[in-house]
Amino acid sequence: MQPEPQNHERRSFLKKTLAVCCGGAAVLAPVGAGVAVFLDPLRRKAEALRAIRVTTLDALPDDGVPRKFPVLANRTDAWNKFTQVPIGAVFLRRVAGGKIDAFNVACPHAGCYVDFMPEQEHFLCPCHNSTFAVNGRVNDPHSPSPRGLDTLVVEIRNKKEVWVKFQNFLPGQADKVPVA
Ligand code: FES
Repeated sequence: MQPEPQNHERRSFLKKTLAVCCGGAAVLAPVGAGVAVFLDPLRRKAEALRAIRVTTLDALPDDGVPRKFPVLANRTDAWNKFTQVPIGAVFLRRVAGGKIDAFNVACPHAGCYVDFMPEQEHFLCPCHNSTFAVNGRVNDPHSPSPRGLDTLVVEIRNKKEVWVKFQNFLPGQADKVPVA
């Protein structure tokens, strides 16, 4: 028995629709993956800009002495997810009354990590000898650093956790410009 013309047309239409859908999915899947890879640096940046839990108040006496803490965060690239990897470090300084200063350890001259020298009560960059006072300002007018240490925003959460909005800034210039 011959199929009715109407049934034949309907089957033909369904076959064509299915072929278009499969073809579209085959094209869109790699495009979607490409867009995800393209946007990946933005995703990493978003993670880096979030406040990060650095320590607790118990580890930060209110004696005004700067103490260094690593900054750890989860990172994701196109293929892997890394948990709690170092993305930088900060000096935290808590003074009587509870105020906390946070400085990125990267020297604004060229990015070397500064050290705190307890005896001299200042920060010293080992690369070209810039010095900074405990409040982060340039200590010596001959220091090559064009600006003081980069300050960061601090939040206290749950009455004891110290969170820092960690960010890097462009070195070698007087203005504090976030790294894009
Ligand atoms: S990198 Fe710090 S003084 Fe040059």
